[in-house]
Amino acid sequence: MLAIFLITCLQKANCKKEVSILQQQNIFYNIKTVVMPEKNSISRKTFLAQSSTLAAGVMLAPLAGFTASGAAFEKKIKVAVIGCGSVSNMYLPHLSKSPFVELVCTCDIKVDRAQKAAAKYNIPAHYANINDMLAAADFSLLVNLTNMQVHGSLNRLAIQAGKNVWSEKPMANTYKEGQELFLLARKNGVRIWGAPAVVNSPQFAFMAQTINSGKLGKVAAAHAHYGHLGPTWSAFFYEKGGGSLPDLGVYNLASLCGLLGPVKSVMAMTSIITKTRTVDDKGTISVEAEDNAMVMMDHGSGTFSHVMCGFNYFDPYGHEGNGQEKPTVSIVGTKGSMHLIGYDWKPFGVDLATIDDEKGKRYVPDTGAYVWEMGASVIAESLATGTEPRINAEHALHVLEIIEAARESQATGKRINLQSTFKWPMTL
Ligand SMILES: NC(=O)c1ccc[n+]([C@@H]2O[C@H](COP(=O)([O-])OP(=O)(O)OC[C@H]3O[C@@H](n4cnc5c(N)ncnc54)[C@H](O)[C@@H]3O)[C@@H](O)[C@H]2O)c1
Repeated sequence: MLAIFLITCLQKANCKKEVSILQQQNIFYNIKTVVMPEKNSISRKTFLAQSSTLAAGVMLAPLAGFTASGAAFEKKIKVAVIGCGSVSNMYLPHLSKSPFVELVCTCDIKVDRAQKAAAKYNIPAHYANINDMLAAADFSLLVNLTNMQVHGSLNRLAIQAGKNVWSEKPMANTYKEGQELFLLARKNGVRIWGAPAVVNSPQFAFMAQTINSGKLGKVAAAHAHYGHLGPTWSAFFYEKGGGSLPDLGVYNLASLCGLLGPVKSVMAMTSIITKTRTVDDKGTISVEAEDNAMVMMDHGSGTFSHVMCGFNYFDPYGHEGNGQEKPTVSIVGTKGSMHLIGYDWKPFGVDLATIDDEKGKRYVPDTGAYVWEMGASVIAESLATGTEPRINAEHALHVLEIIEAARESQATGKRINLQSTFKWPMTL
């Protein structure tokens, strides 16, 4: 579309030579990757001003191919990955297979990790710190897989340098910082998105549509849980700014507010069950962030939900989640009940029973099309094709505010009202 638009403009301006070069070489400008204002989020005047400024600096790129639906996409997105630890072993295989991605560099303060990842995936460059990478590398999407505590500062540097960002959770270290980053990205004509990608699963879509169609009647209550015995490799999970809420509860919070709508207020209790831990990178450490949490949420109009998460849950399914055939997300209403089988980050199906089918059935069995580590690839596809992903930054920011409110509720013993919201229902 953009290419056709550009050619039309050039034709109108009587730029015959330029049109002919574009048509013959099958090469198109893509302004969408640098200017993707959210619908209704900025004025037309601002959009046009940003478009013209940024269009001056856009790159030429060859037509890259066709999406699954047959639509043409115009280029591969140049991607840099920062943080080459545990989770990069899941992201890099997925990114390296994406037709929308060109991996251009890796970065890690433990530079041997960046070097090994680059060598393994044939990535041409690697760096020991973000400043060197931003100064030297040409890319448009930063995939941030570092320790939680440095997400905010690294994401800010990337946005300031005009890069789009996909960030592992949390996308910032406080809700206020997240909001600042969101606005800064908008000002700079780029975007930021944050994990998790749970809303992308077909099981999430089915559950959302079931609720929205009224099949459950009036939804009253929901529950979700996720826990294991905690990561053993890095201390940051247990240090200030870490914790089981941003690492594990975040999936359930994203699912429940994605399904039931923005949360109006939160009451919570958090604690530390295991006071010291032994981890690979720092030996024995004192645990500072909560490793046990119960969060109650009021979604308005009387609907409540509850999340329990922690790093002290005996879990025979391990970190892979294989074999978890029991529900971890349950939603009940006046006309039906619905249970997501497996984890919301690794769903196997949805059990639904209603007044019209009391025995119920299992729907949307896993086809392997959705995997939790696909978030950055989904964003690259969205940037390449100009389509809006279901993953949504305001939703991730809302989840961040819920986590902060849960901690405030624990500290004060009070019910905490939230300010943020997001566009809901998410599947419309
Ligand atoms: N490991 C998992 O299974 C998993 C799953 C989902 C999400 N996550 C999320 O992914 C993120 C990373 O987790 P992980 O388990 O991979 O941790 P990790 O400790 O294995 O890896 C983090 C890497 O980031 C690097 N790093 C830290 N600060 C940096 C900086 N300023 N610049 C460049 N590199 C820096 C570290 O050296 C390390 O190699 C966290 O937000 C975590 O919540 C992890």
